Amino acid sequence: MGMNDGMEYTTLGRTGLKASVAGLGCGGPSRLGMRNDAQGEKSAVALVRQALDLGINFLDTAESYGTEAVVGKAIAGIARDRLIISTKKALPSAHHSDTEGEVKRGLEHSLKLLGTDYIDVYHLHGVEPKDYDFARERLMPVMRRLREQRKIRFIGVTEGFVQDPSHQMLEQSLKEDLWDVVMVGFNLLNPSARGSVLPMTREKRVGVLNMFAVRRALSQPDRLKGILTDLVHKGVIAENAVNGEDLIDFVLRESDATTLPEVAYRFCRHERGVDIVLTGTGNPEHLRANVESILKPPLPESVLQKLEKIFGNLDYLTGN
Ligand SMILES: NC(=O)c1ccc[n+]([C@@H]2O[C@H](COP(=O)([O-])OP(=O)(O)OC[C@H]3O[C@@H](n4cnc5c(N)ncnc54)[C@H](OP(=O)(O)O)[C@@H]3O)[C@@H](O)[C@H]2O)c1
Repeated sequence: MGMNDGMEYTTLGRTGLKASVAGLGCGGPSRLGMRNDAQGEKSAVALVRQALDLGINFLDTAESYGTEAVVGKAIAGIARDRLIISTKKALPSAHHSDTEGEVKRGLEHSLKLLGTDYIDVYHLHGVEPKDYDFARERLMPVMRRLREQRKIRFIGVTEGFVQDPSHQMLEQSLKEDLWDVVMVGFNLLNPSARGSVLPMTREKRVGVLNMFAVRRALSQPDRLKGILTDLVHKGVIAENAVNGEDLIDFVLRESDATTLPEVAYRFCRHERGVDIVLTGTGNPEHLRANVESILKPPLPESVLQKLEKIFGNLDYLTGN
């Protein structure tokens, strides 16, 4: 691993962890290619190994993705301290009779599948505004005990971006001092975290993981066109400001980028306050291209300004 000396590394906020600026997302629509079972576990393991060879040392998975075992197989034999492993606990029901036991069993199972005895960043997975009090009052004490026992090093949270695209949960929770790391939805269609979340994480030195950089809308042109047409219908953006064809056109014409996913990853990578951009794929060629994109310079200022004019005030799209 780490053979590609082109990778860049950064400090993940107050954790002090030295992480690659590109992180491998082992969930999302592709789940390392295992979503449709079209590709088996073998190709998924190979994809993780390819990521390591590209210099990626940050691997993000979750109890609910079904990819922890794949990550475990891919990292077997690699010195543990060269890797940063991020995984997540799905929220137990607030009526669960033994919340603490449920979280502990979840963690033990993750450790077993991953073949390790500690997790670097353990998250509460997809905490929505309605879950926040429960997470704070009932789950946080358990997370802290796990940290004291050194089974986890840092405590993280991920938002439910689809349900909470304006970041209510993170905004509320960042007023307190709960998380070492947060995972936030941020992309060129919904850059609202720039105003609400990122100033707070910077101030408190909370590590920031960027999810949804590309997702479906920015990797499937027809989907993007559909979203843009809808925004024009709703009067959110002017008909002449952009239509589907034009947007793809102008970002590519006015920059040195060659694909829309490249534009989308570069947009996130250079956002002030974003530490790691996650990239999720089942396709080795996409992984190679995406890492290359993430390592490219910022998009031209003129393109950024145009995107800001069109999408800068939107806080409800997810790009899904
Ligand atoms: N609430 C949460 O906790 C939460 C929610 C969502 C995601 N996450 C985490 O964040 C990670 C990143 O999210 P994501 O997986 O949605 O990542 P993403 O990188 O924003 O988007 C991935 C999607 O874009 C496609 N894609 C990627 N590169 C491409 C390329 N070069 N050309 C064309 N299509 C491309 C992929 O399909 P192909 O397989 O065809 O490349 C996949 O469907 C997840 O893997 C997961 O670890 C967490």
